[in-house]
Parts: sequence; structure tokens; C-alpha cells
Amino acid sequence: MASSSSSSSASATEGYRGGLEIPGWEHFYTGKVRDLYRHPHHPKHMLMIATDRLSAFDVVMNETIPDRGRVLTFITEYWLQEFSAWMPAARVTCEAAQVPDLPEEWQETLQGRLTWTRVAERVNVEVVLRAYLAGSGFREYQATGRLWDHPLPAGLLNSSKLPEVLHTPTTKADTDEPITWPEAVELIGSESEAAQIHALALRIFHAAAQRAAAKNVVLADTKFEFGRIDGQIVLIDEVMTPDSSRYWPMDAIVAGQEPPSFDKEIVRAYLRSLTDWNRQAPPPHIPAEVIAKTRDRYLDICEILTGSLPQGVAR
Ligand SMILES: Nc1ncnc2c1ncn2[C@@H]1O[C@H](COP(=O)(O)OP(=O)(O)OP(=O)(O)O)[C@@H](O)[C@H]1O
Ligand SMILES: [Mg+2]
Repeated sequence: MASSSSSSSASATEGYRGGLEIPGWEHFYTGKVRDLYRHPHHPKHMLMIATDRLSAFDVVMNETIPDRGRVLTFITEYWLQEFSAWMPAARVTCEAAQVPDLPEEWQETLQGRLTWTRVAERVNVEVVLRAYLAGSGFREYQATGRLWDHPLPAGLLNSSKLPEVLHTPTTKADTDEPITWPEAVELIGSESEAAQIHALALRIFHAAAQRAAAKNVVLADTKFEFGRIDGQIVLIDEVMTPDSSRYWPMDAIVAGQEPPSFDKEIVRAYLRSLTDWNRQAPPPHIPAEVIAKTRDRYLDICEILTGSLPQGVAR
């Protein structure tokens, strides 16, 4: 039973680690954050469950960030609904009661963290769009004066706004390698689909950046994943969450500095401060106050963007 397992409960003190067995369902994939399940009666669909696991430097930590999976699911659902009139997506529902053959005793445990979605043939390119220089993009600019295929003006700083939103695709692999546009086109498979994905990603980005700006938040960059269902290009996976995007408080942007983002930066900073961890498993212990502060950041961006918190999630 879901409720009798210690790892199935999620509260402000204990997160959902996932990896549980759901009767009748096959747990067929464990990502860094999500567990994927399928059911023999529904071969064209799958259940995607966002756990509270947290990875940093590609190592999954022992601790969880309680409610993180709910926040990621809630923000994705917010954007999917905002743009549902024109944004094609694979997801069917986030309502546990609407998932066929999901045992009733599991509905409460998984509500808020599950997504029932059509299975897409994944396009193995990460569609990364950047409106500002940051992270690996800034490092590349410093080294080469360019960003992927795009030449840039001299004199840009960390967190400078780019002249336009730029597409900097990477491979969808264990380590995401930067690729050129022709390489992306080849991985996607056709010019026309690549152009369609590019145009759709830009449209989503601009629409979301505008909404975020109205809330005094900058959408600095984001990563989309796309797939194909019955020949149609659709958005899959998470959508403009703090895991897949850099959101910055507008008034905290200081040219030349990396602004504070609404994600796991607090955990990363803590890990960087450790001198005796080599960034390989096993991960070190993360102190409770680091967990609590990180959780607050996720709740903050959720409230700012969507105006509320997921049901059952409280400070
Ligand atoms: N509708 C969909 N059809 C097919 N695959 C999907 C769909 N939605 C999401 N996925 C895939 O499901 C997985 C979700 O798991 P998770 O986000 O934890 O993975 P991850 O740790 O990011 O690892 P990786 O994405 O590299 O496999 C991703 O591999 C994602 O590409
Ligand atoms: Mg992922």
C-alpha cells in the first residue's frame, strides 16, 4: 500500500524518493528526477512521476527536497495550460483520478506529481534558447566571442542581455554536447521539422518571457524537449521549470555577475564549498538548512509565476 511505505509520504520534512512498485504497472525508467511507468493496457501512454530527488553535478543526492516534484509538475502544467490554445503537447492530464487503471490507494500519493502522457518518439536534441548570457553560454562567449554558431558583439558581460533570443542546441545524451544548427537538423531528421521546432520554441519562449516579465522575473534561458506523435511535433517532458530554465528576479540583475536563480543553486554552492568531495557518487550529506532554503526557492518561483502553490503544499 502506498500510504504504509515510509518513502511514499511527502511532507515538509520528508520528500518522495520514488522507486516504488505500483501494482499492475511496470516501472521501466528511472531518470534523475522522474520515474516512468507503463501499463500493458495502454501501450501508447505512460505515467511520468516527478519525485523529490535532487541531482547536482550529475550525482543524485541522498536527501530529497520535499515537494520539489510537485512544484515542477505544477509549473509545467501552468505553462501547458497558459498556451494550450496553440502549443502542441504530449501530456494528457495531471489528475490522478483520470489515469486509467491507477489503483485508487495510489491516487493520493501521486496526485500533483504525476503526468499521464502520450509516449512520443523523442527528438534527441535539447532545444536550448537563451535571452541572456549565463553559465556555459557565458563561458563559451568568454573563450570564443561567440555562442554556438552565433557571432556576438564584443563587451558583453555575465548576465548581459543578448541582442536577440538565440537557439543553442545540444545533444540529448549523458553529457549534453553543444551542436551546430546543421547537426541539430540532422539529428531531428528533416529541415522542415527542425524549422518547425525552432519556430515553436521561439514562440513559446517569447510568450513565457513576457508573462514572467509582468511578474518582475526574467526568463534568462530554457531547455525544451520535443517528440513526434503520429507525425506531429509535440512538446514533451517538463516545461519551463526552474530545473530546465534560469529565472532571475528582475531587480537582482547586475551586469557582470550571475544573478541568484530560483533553483538548486544553494545546494550547488554548498557542494562547491566542500573540499573533500570529488563530485562522484556517493554524495555527501546535505544539511537540513540547505534543504529548507532550497525548498523555499522552489516555492517562491512557483508562487511568483503561477500565483499559487500546488494543492497540499504549504510553507
Ligand atoms: N512524452 C514523452 N515521450 C517520451 N519520452 C518522454 C516524454 N516525456 C518525457 N520523456 C523522457 O522521460 C524522461 C524523464 O525523466 P527525467 O526528467 O528524470 O530524466 P533526466 O534525468 O532528465 O534524464 P534524461 O532526460 O537524460 O533521460 C526523460 O528522458 C525525457 O526525455
Ligand atoms: Mg529531465
